Amino acid sequence: MNIKTVGVVGCGLMGSGIAEVCAKSGYDVVVMEVNEALLNKGLERIKASLTKAVERNKLSAEARDAAWARIRGTTDLAQFDSCDFAVEAVIENLDAKKKIFARLDEVTPPHAILSSNTSSLSIIDMAAMTARPAQVLGMHFFNPVPVMPLLEMVRTFVTSEETYAAARAFGQSLGKQVIVAKDTPGFIVNALLVPYLLDAVRMLEEGIAAKEDIDTGIHLGLNHPMGPLTLLDFVGIDTTLYIADAMFAETKNARYAAPVLMRRMVTAGYYGRKTGKGFYEYR
Ligand SMILES: NC(=O)c1ccc[n+]([C@@H]2O[C@H](COP(=O)([O-])OP(=O)(O)OC[C@H]3O[C@@H](n4cnc5c(N)ncnc54)[C@H](O)[C@@H]3O)[C@@H](O)[C@H]2O)c1
Repeated sequence: MNIKTVGVVGCGLMGSGIAEVCAKSGYDVVVMEVNEALLNKGLERIKASLTKAVERNKLSAEARDAAWARIRGTTDLAQFDSCDFAVEAVIENLDAKKKIFARLDEVTPPHAILSSNTSSLSIIDMAAMTARPAQVLGMHFFNPVPVMPLLEMVRTFVTSEETYAAARAFGQSLGKQVIVAKDTPGFIVNALLVPYLLDAVRMLEEGIAAKEDIDTGIHLGLNHPMGPLTLLDFVGIDTTLYIADAMFAETKNARYAAPVLMRRMVTAGYYGRKTGKGFYEYR
């Protein structure tokens, strides 16, 4: 399958990174947001990230300009009529994602592969909203997408071999190392990561240790690049809460039950870096 144009739905933290990586790899990209203000914010994030890559000598100025010229923003999903591959990266909410898949099925050409960047939700639920469930799969990128080398692919029991092979080749063309999981809550990485992050919040909630000591313990004791509370601020406490809630709703497993502190923080707007406040403060 010849993939030339990629459509990305949502230009938040992940959508902007996915659009950037696709453009840098030579694909034409159309990225969609709910309104002009959010679209401009997302496009600015892409521009800043490309510029940072040039400053760090990871990208030439010519390559930056060429990548930027390949990206087109829109607020209308009908603009996905020329897409060969679509990646959905809106908030972690199954109803929102299902609506987008139904619409993607209407607007994209019949040969297009439709994928979701969901961290935890069921891919078959999204595939069932389309008339092409065999052409639907999960393409779970990691944050920040331009830096993180991993791509976790998710096959449902109806994803076709052709779709899987084409999507895998596409993922590898973006420079990603591919791992594959079944369509189960949290797949591989989040099934292991989420209980660990929730346990760190519980530890803080129970007053067992200071946040700095929890983070330093993991950073220096296990040699992780950062501790769990710093990581939560980075990923988004809101996003992690949606993921945990979705995994708990499906499994009823107490490992995925979000601590009250986390829920209160989200209600108060403490989402982490993206709102300037989380477990730590950011300027
Ligand atoms: N944050 C992470 O570290 C991470 C990592 C891997 C996967 N994910 C997954 O990626 C997805 C997006 O997460 P994020 O961190 O980028 O969230 P985010 O809140 O930064 O971005 C989501 C964006 O989607 C937009 N949006 C919402 N509804 C839309 C619609 N109907 N049409 C178009 N755009 C719409 C929002 O305006 C927002 O800009 C989620 O499914 C999340 O689970 C997140």
